[in-house]
Amino acid sequence: MSLRPKIKELEEKHKLAELGGGQARIDKQHKAGRRTARERIADLFDPDTFVEIDKFVVHRSTNFGMEKNKVLGDGVVTGYGKIDGRIMYVFAQDFTVLGGSLSRANADKVVKIMDLAMKMGAPVIGLNDSGGARIQEGVESLAGYADIFYRNVRSSGVIPQISAVLGPCAGGAVYSPAITDFIMMVKDTSFMFVTGPDVIKTVTNEEVTMENLGGAMTHNQKSGVAHFTADDDQQAMMMIRELMSFLPSNNMEDPPRKTCIDDLTREEPRLDDIIPSDPNKPYNMMDIILPVIDNKHFLEVQPHYAKNIIVGFARIGGRPVGIVANQPAVLAGVLDIDSSTKAARFVRFCDAFNIPLVTFEDVPGFLPGTAQEFGGIIKHGAKLLYAFAEATVPKITIITRKAYGGAYDVMSSKHIGTDYNFAYPTAEIAVMGPDGAVNIIYRNKLKDDAERKKAVDDYRENFASPYRAAELGYIDEIIFPHNTRKKLVQALEMTENKSDSNPPKKHGNIPL
Ligand code: HXC
Repeated sequence: MSLRPKIKELEEKHKLAELGGGQARIDKQHKAGRRTARERIADLFDPDTFVEIDKFVVHRSTNFGMEKNKVLGDGVVTGYGKIDGRIMYVFAQDFTVLGGSLSRANADKVVKIMDLAMKMGAPVIGLNDSGGARIQEGVESLAGYADIFYRNVRSSGVIPQISAVLGPCAGGAVYSPAITDFIMMVKDTSFMFVTGPDVIKTVTNEEVTMENLGGAMTHNQKSGVAHFTADDDQQAMMMIRELMSFLPSNNMEDPPRKTCIDDLTREEPRLDDIIPSDPNKPYNMMDIILPVIDNKHFLEVQPHYAKNIIVGFARIGGRPVGIVANQPAVLAGVLDIDSSTKAARFVRFCDAFNIPLVTFEDVPGFLPGTAQEFGGIIKHGAKLLYAFAEATVPKITIITRKAYGGAYDVMSSKHIGTDYNFAYPTAEIAVMGPDGAVNIIYRNKLKDDAERKKAVDDYRENFASPYRAAELGYIDEIIFPHNTRKKLVQALEMTENKSDSNPPKKHGNIPL
């Protein structure tokens, strides 16, 4: 008997599965400016590397006549593929099948992928586009979500987990992306919220649009929930590929190095003039960061949120590093609630995945005010202190200008375990700025403006400089700014084989 019919049957099943919810719904998806799950996967992975798992899984529900509404794959495409030749696992919710809603069977597929990824030590990328819990399945769907959340938590810090939100993502469904390391959103087509506009109207009488409530810019700019914004699905996939190029596959690996074609000793004479002579004048910290990293290639994380601190990935000498930098051009680079939590989370990510930290510091202190105090700046600022102190990856700091008060300690100072501390000759390291210090030390003791000016100048000369700290060994080297790149290359080489760990414990108690 010929086996042809069986081969044919398999071919038909593949075709059927690949059609998802049917051509009409695929067209609707395209019309809404969104790609299908399979198209997104094709954009994400190196060509012809995707292997689909569980393509023929169907749901088992018989509620509401669902036995007549079965689609092969059941609304999620799962499997593995390669990015730059490295294996990554993926699940992509297929909105054309029952709105990509999460059924028990569909959750089991995601769980299988997550378990495989943990066992094999490879990242998981979740492409979310779903109406949430499959309403017809009730608690079975909720259980499926919880199974995923549980794995998200267990995988945290072991394998990188990346979420793209590429359509609706509502209710408890937002908590899987929230537990993952990075969230990518797409302008105009992706939404995240715990309760939607209709519920909000009923409960609080507030009127708000989907976009305002949970669109890409809301979460990238206001809430800080998301980390990246793309203009469309294809750009989102390209950005995930770029992000992955900086990350190891798991916490036991070092991040992947690239051959460095940028001169390791390149001098940047412009840096000698970058710090304004007036200490109250801002400058753009990016003008220091970009020239000293490889090929000016910087992947900024959360570029729209808490702009007074910059975080992101770069390479120095081909080696991925995480950069944390105060931004004097925004709010004078002050530390506040949002910038502290933004940087703390980034520092902990880098530490979990063996990515050295390079800190550029110009910080006048913590932002004063009742809004900050009532908002809990004490515990939020402490997060950043905790994160830097806890991090055992190589840590290198460059103080470019101000390092005042508690913020000096917090921003990866020598005292909290930083391996190499540089300062520019323009650094001012002191308990507070000269004006504030003179006001307190000489309260009611200075006769006129001339005496006051002299006191301020004396203070700046003697205390607001890097030399006191260098005398004490708190600063290892005072460097010429034009040599910054060479000095960073040296320090990273010096710390290359660093081996350090925290005392054994179940886990610390970071002030949440
Ligand atoms: C089953 C669903 C579904 C769901 C959508 N569909 N959501 N089926 N369960 N949760 C189906 C629709 O019936 C429709 O089927 C198809 O998906 C596309 O939906 P449309 O409404 O036509 O699309 P659109 O106009 O783009 O609207 C998308 C949407 C809307 C905003 C997501 O569908 C919606 O509001 N859905 C319900 C959202 C919801 O309340 N989910 C539960 C949240 S609570 P046809 O056959 O017509 O194509 C939750 C708890 C998680 O998720 C708990 C975790 C702890």
